[in-house]
Amino acid sequence: MTHIFLKKLNNLIDTKKCSVGIIGLGYVGLPLSILFVKNNFKIIGFDVDKKKIAKIKKNQSYIERISNNDVGLINKGGQFYSNFSNISKCDIIIICVPTPITKNKKPFLKPLIESSKLIGTILKKNDVVVYESTVYPGCTEEVCIPILEKFSKLKLDLDFLCGYSPERINPGDKINKLSNIIKIVSGTSIKSTNIIASMYSKIIKAGIHKTLNVKTAEASKVLENTQRSVNISLINEVSVLFNKLNIKTNEVLEAANTKWNFNYFTPGLVGGHCIAIDPYYLVYKAKQVGLKSNLILGSQKINEEMPVIICKRFMKSFSKKNIKLKKKNILIMGLTFKENCSDIRESKVLDIINYLDKKKISVKTYDPWVSKKDLDKKLKINHIENLKNISGFDGVIIAVGHDIFKKIGIKKIKSFCKKNSVIFDIKNQFNSKYVDGTL
Ligand SMILES: NC(=O)c1ccc[n+]([C@@H]2O[C@H](COP(=O)([O-])OP(=O)(O)OC[C@H]3O[C@@H](n4cnc5c(N)ncnc54)[C@H](O)[C@@H]3O)[C@@H](O)[C@H]2O)c1
Repeated sequence: MTHIFLKKLNNLIDTKKCSVGIIGLGYVGLPLSILFVKNNFKIIGFDVDKKKIAKIKKNQSYIERISNNDVGLINKGGQFYSNFSNISKCDIIIICVPTPITKNKKPFLKPLIESSKLIGTILKKNDVVVYESTVYPGCTEEVCIPILEKFSKLKLDLDFLCGYSPERINPGDKINKLSNIIKIVSGTSIKSTNIIASMYSKIIKAGIHKTLNVKTAEASKVLENTQRSVNISLINEVSVLFNKLNIKTNEVLEAANTKWNFNYFTPGLVGGHCIAIDPYYLVYKAKQVGLKSNLILGSQKINEEMPVIICKRFMKSFSKKNIKLKKKNILIMGLTFKENCSDIRESKVLDIINYLDKKKISVKTYDPWVSKKDLDKKLKINHIENLKNISGFDGVIIAVGHDIFKKIGIKKIKSFCKKNSVIFDIKNQFNSKYVDGTL
């Protein structure tokens, strides 16, 4: 058996002999496929979303930071299907399916379970399976591997290998890209860790970090995002306090940041499918072993309350300026969950829109990163696609720190409004003397 896996290792060195299957071609799976193809691997991609497969086949990108040229390139070096059976030709299968949460904030593992079942039906002796989706510590070994074994009737480490390697990309980040982020790699045995590490070392320039076991790698990923969420929640909490004390949070941060060991975070909306979600995976696991996650849950609560806090302060600014709130028209600039990306999944701006809508405040949105046709009609968002001839708004909330908003400038933003209006700059992009509120 060792001999066969060694042959696989040799095949990995000769990348052309190794065929990699990528399950789930979204924000993680598509760039990963491109990187493999650019490094001469043969790729077979699978996604349940037929529209995505059709777009790939037409050399069309559906992710803003991925060019049509790169999609054209993977079409040359890979094959893409919405039919799973083609994955059976692969030696290595990497799973990049979504891992969201349910309404009750519990891990929603259906895509992971469904894809593991399918892989189980085609798994061959000596195949290698790697999970990249973010999960709680223990999920790969407790949930996924038993499914693979059950559906394939093969035995882990005897017949096939398995490991976990979290994806750590940061949407919108032009500097830290897939190939220059150290890849954390784990396997259920030393052999699988080494084989998986050998594969990733062919595509990741930054290098590989091998963990002791799979659950360490799983825990490291959820910890990264949980730490960020907790840190931001602290700054969100103190920003509310400082506001009450008439202290400018950005001035406090600037001063505190002169200390060498101060960790700089800014207040804001914590959305998206990673930082807003992943802490709940850790909370779930903690509960399973009889522990309470007071700090994490408290932090999540603070971050989740921010849209309402912002709306209340925004509305209060109207009364401070003696403007009646009745029949007001508001422009929200920025819809995405963070700056300089087009992803609106779990965006907390949507919570702001819903809150203002309930208060009968009419809201229009503008975000050059989001096109109207891509917005789910169920969201009922009144989205404008250009700023030509717009005027007469009673207020603007600059909700996202897109660079383009700085280019537009506060003078122009003010020109969209009536003389007596309210401007709230959540991400503190503009000089505070030109706006009525910030965090
Ligand atoms: N987006 C990021 O920046 C990022 C960063 C780090 C980690 N992650 C993690 O990586 C995983 C994937 O995230 P993403 O942002 O790429 O999600 P995504 O929604 O953009 O892409 C997932 C893709 O999987 C497909 N899919 C769903 N169920 C499937 C199934 N059963 N079989 C095959 N395909 C299926 C979907 O159609 C979709 O195209 C998640 O666990 C996420 O938390 C994401």
